[in-house]
Amino acid sequence: MKKIICALLVLSIAFTGLFVSCSGKGGSSSTKVGVSMPTKDLQRWNQDGSNMKAQLEKAGYTVDLQFAANDINTQVSQLENMITSGCKVLVIASIDGNSLSNVLEAAQKKNIKVIAYDRLIMNTKAVSYYATFDNYKVGTIQGDYLVDKLGLKSRSASDPVYMEFFTGDPGDNNINFFFGGAMDVLKPYLDKGVIVCPSGQTAKAQCATLNWSTEEAQKRMENLITSNKYGPKGTKLDAVYCSNDSTANGVTNALISAGYTADNFPIITGQDCDIVAVKNMLAGTQAMSIFKDTRTLASKVVEMVDAIMKGSEPPVNDTKTYDNGTGVVPSFLCEPVYGSKENYKSLLIDSGYYTEAQLK
Ligand code: BGC
Repeated sequence: MKKIICALLVLSIAFTGLFVSCSGKGGSSSTKVGVSMPTKDLQRWNQDGSNMKAQLEKAGYTVDLQFAANDINTQVSQLENMITSGCKVLVIASIDGNSLSNVLEAAQKKNIKVIAYDRLIMNTKAVSYYATFDNYKVGTIQGDYLVDKLGLKSRSASDPVYMEFFTGDPGDNNINFFFGGAMDVLKPYLDKGVIVCPSGQTAKAQCATLNWSTEEAQKRMENLITSNKYGPKGTKLDAVYCSNDSTANGVTNALISAGYTADNFPIITGQDCDIVAVKNMLAGTQAMSIFKDTRTLASKVVEMVDAIMKGSEPPVNDTKTYDNGTGVVPSFLCEPVYGSKENYKSLLIDSGYYTEAQLK
């Protein structure tokens, strides 16, 4: 009798286990997903990396998360390891979108699916899907903000505003959309002389910032300050367009050193709602940022991974915008949202993204 009870018990435990594993999350712990992030140096990628890891693990996957110190060779060799160690899907935020064709050929040969994360990977057929934010909209929100705050619609060339421009890394395809979106809004005003750029540096290549580095942006702004004699008592500077927060932070540092204070600070745009940027917004230096909720992006990517593993169609909502040179990559675009000191509480604190203490 005891034996029968024991056997029944074992069977029922096994059955429960089977039931849980079938009805539970999509992943199986034997399915390994490689997550390759560009760097730990910028807050954004730390957050993206840990969100991705946590959400993939919650869905039942094993995760190999690597950060590549903004070094292309490091990213390539980390990807090689992921490929040889049996990852079934690779989620990659590239350092340079043009440098992964060879390594991803190896992935394709092993039928490993690749999801480009946030930044499109260019010139390879190995990329199956792209998950990002609406990058063009990021640029137009920034541009529209400047039009509004500077009252450009009611100005003329006899009453212009003075502005400089900063964007990000030339190897990041996103800058075409951020800078392109902002310029689509601002260029008509530049053409009419309503916006004057005293340095004359308005071409994307001239405004680029290697690795989106705060230090590089600060150096370039310091040079612009010296060569154009910008300052609260010098040449007028009304605004600096910055594609994101890491560049905005460098520009802000340079302007503070030049003597600007919250009362007379040029309008600075940004993107990411990094902690430093939010602190700057609260201090009255940076004017705005864009909130891209990386938790939403991570959960979309988990849905994509799940669908790939189940052989079903991953969620996409854009099939025409993102051509990587070999054709359009089916994409899911999350919504970017305008952020400022007026709405940061509801946007960032109430949503649990940051605690009030982190912003002190
Ligand atoms: C991302 C931005 C980020 C920048 C620098 C871009 O590809 O879309 O959110 O600020 O990289 O890390």
